[in-house]
Amino acid sequence: MSPARIIDGKAVAESVREEITRRAAALVEAKGVRPGLAVVLVGEDPASQVYVRNKDRTAEACGFHSVKHTLAADTPETDVLALVDRLNQDPAIHGILVQLPLPGHIDESKVLRLIKPEKDVDGFHPINVGLLTTGERDHALVPCTPAGCLVLLKRTLGGNLSGLSAVVIGRSNIVGKPMANLLLQESCTVTIAHSRTKDLPAVVREADIVVAAVGRPEMVRGDWIKPGAAVIDVGINRIPAPERGEGKTRLVGDVAFEEALPHAGAITPVPGGVGPMTIAMLMANTLTAARRQLGLPEEEPLF
Ligand code: GUN
Repeated sequence: MSPARIIDGKAVAESVREEITRRAAALVEAKGVRPGLAVVLVGEDPASQVYVRNKDRTAEACGFHSVKHTLAADTPETDVLALVDRLNQDPAIHGILVQLPLPGHIDESKVLRLIKPEKDVDGFHPINVGLLTTGERDHALVPCTPAGCLVLLKRTLGGNLSGLSAVVIGRSNIVGKPMANLLLQESCTVTIAHSRTKDLPAVVREADIVVAAVGRPEMVRGDWIKPGAAVIDVGINRIPAPERGEGKTRLVGDVAFEEALPHAGAITPVPGGVGPMTIAMLMANTLTAARRQLGLPEEEPLF
């Protein structure tokens, strides 16, 4: 078999951002309103700081109104709730994202439930989770990483995924569960595998589509991949790379990429696959949220 096509997430994310920038400019032209995104970061987690900075920069580059709230790690829960409440009431803010994880003394689900569902651009509020699971995706805000995975799959396999068998490895609320629901809505036959799954290699070998979101470096081996399958690797794991020099590290996914190449039909690299799609889809959600809050019709979906 010829080696897998490598799915260029950077290029797809750029095309999504360009489309959103165009649509945002049209909104400003028509209504004089810029989509407004507020990102809340509590604490100093370095990875979260990088994400939040990227979100802020991308929002500005798309022509959005972007605000960043950085709070100390020991901020009381009541102060975080008060900030969310204020953002809920602010007409210039159409999307609110509270960066996770939150420090241990803050009840994550209490904070997420306070965000108005129509401003919940992460798609984590139970209302949005419910709309996705009942198949009312067009009224929901869909979590950004799974939405980005679906865009990559549709651009790779064509629009119709109906009847394909899909395995999602990982059952998190952020990726695994919403991904499975999105694929189900595309009429895939979906299996959710996780750490307790028996004979995971055999389960993966059945799949036309594999989405790996477990956070274990190179756990999915090349010979698990059904010939020609589409492989979407959500994992971003930093591992030691002594071959690059003492103390050096490199990023790998949840899939053993080099091993999978001769088996897969198409595969996302790490970095440069799913990663860039998440922020692009956050921009798309923020624009969708803004249009809905202004009572405007839905635009052509991106997936
Ligand atoms: N932390 C890791 N991924 C995410 C995400 O998609 N949204 C938020 N809010 N926090 C995260």
